[in-house]
Amino acid sequence: MMKLMWLLLLMTLIPASLAWQAHFTPAQLQLPMKTSGDVELLLSDLNHDQLQQTDRYSFRLQSNSEHLATVLAANATIPVDQIPDTASEWTGRIRIEAHFLGEAVITVQLHYALFGNSSPPANAAQKGSSLLAQVVRSQRVIDHVFLGSVILLMSLLYINFGAALNVSVLRGLITRPIGPSIFLITQTLGMPLLSYALGVFIFPNSPAMQLGLFFTGIAPSGGASNTWTAVLGGNINLSVLMTTISNFGAFGSMPFWTFTLGALIFDRAGIKVPYDKIAGYCAGLIIPLFIGLAIQRWWPRLAQILVRLLKPISGGLIIFIVVFAIITNFYIFELFSWQIAVAGLALPGLGYGIAWLAAKLLHQNPADALAIAIETGIQNTGTAIFLLRTTLPQPQADLTTVVPVAVAIMTPMPLLGIYLYQRCRGVKTAEIPPAAEHQRIV
Ligand SMILES: *[C@@H]1O[C@H](CO)[C@@H](O)[C@H](O)[C@H]1NC(C)=O
Ligand SMILES: *[C@@H]1O[C@H](CO)[C@@H](O)[C@H](O)[C@H]1NC(C)=O
Repeated sequence: MMKLMWLLLLMTLIPASLAWQAHFTPAQLQLPMKTSGDVELLLSDLNHDQLQQTDRYSFRLQSNSEHLATVLAANATIPVDQIPDTASEWTGRIRIEAHFLGEAVITVQLHYALFGNSSPPANAAQKGSSLLAQVVRSQRVIDHVFLGSVILLMSLLYINFGAALNVSVLRGLITRPIGPSIFLITQTLGMPLLSYALGVFIFPNSPAMQLGLFFTGIAPSGGASNTWTAVLGGNINLSVLMTTISNFGAFGSMPFWTFTLGALIFDRAGIKVPYDKIAGYCAGLIIPLFIGLAIQRWWPRLAQILVRLLKPISGGLIIFIVVFAIITNFYIFELFSWQIAVAGLALPGLGYGIAWLAAKLLHQNPADALAIAIETGIQNTGTAIFLLRTTLPQPQADLTTVVPVAVAIMTPMPLLGIYLYQRCRGVKTAEIPPAAEHQRIV
């Protein structure tokens, strides 16, 4: 008898299957940092028989990332006694305050004070039962200037690249194909897979960061590789050849990886794969390349001048992009976590190591193995930044830029270490042959 009474008592106390629903309008709100905005919250199917103990129930709004966006304190709790007894619905304006770049999900729960527990709305699985608050930067003139100058410099670089394309360099591919083949596999297969795996491993809960790392992994090999190969005593001719095939191959390999493995990350990030933008990007860089080739064919003197400009331009480009990216996104460095530093070091570092091992296992001589390692590890982070900024919506574009910037900063570290080691050991590095000097491309 006693047991039965307890059971009855408990049944009145436990918030048994209250089938209320929550609807946010709009379900997605984009706000610039340090601003606020209102959404409408509709609570429906309220059952007052069960909500009688008004003092014990309240609806509570909560953000899953309080440092990004929160509900105004005065709006965060809706006591049930504010809702008229007869109404089965309640609507009110909820103020959202945006603090920092990123996305926060705001949910509403029915809180039961007696047990201190909360229950979600019956429609919790449906869209609109929670609010997605996207905190973005307000668009400034400097952002347009940045993007415009990146596009301009990339185009110039590819015009020069076309003007400098040396068919005799490609002849090396026919005489000694093994080195370039190893590179082709480590660069177009190894780096994308490595960047994907590292992304999933280091940022398991952040698909946006995975995208940042993946786009860096699929980028072609970078501008500094020829210089580093020379400085550390690698085979420069091979380096130039590999840079050439990598930058050509990227027109095919970047869309390929974006639409296959990349599509998985886009899916996790809840972003549609920007097919048109990726395709447009590749087409956009082929045009300057052909302009460069045409200049080489019909205005050889102009082509010579362009080739001489090539090195300072490509060197300047990457410094410019990285510095500008840091300046315009300075507060992103509030997000500069140890994960980002590790990712920035691991991608080029493991790239060097894996490519060097592969080259060694396939009996490449030390100068070739070094060139293959450097070529694989150094990525064209400018391309990655460009891709991320032109293809991703905000706030993801801003959030992910920090990854290639971190990679660009960390890439020289292992090479600098090797250089200092060589210096201490008194290893004589090969002199830069003057014949190869004018051939360095990108
Ligand atoms: C939310 O807060 C604002 C500002 O204090 C207020 O005007 C509005 O009535 C509140 N909304 C609700 C549902 O309490
Ligand atoms: C590099 O190429 C130049 C000319 O194309 C040639 O003279 C030189 O011997 C080559 N060096 C190596 C290490 O193959």
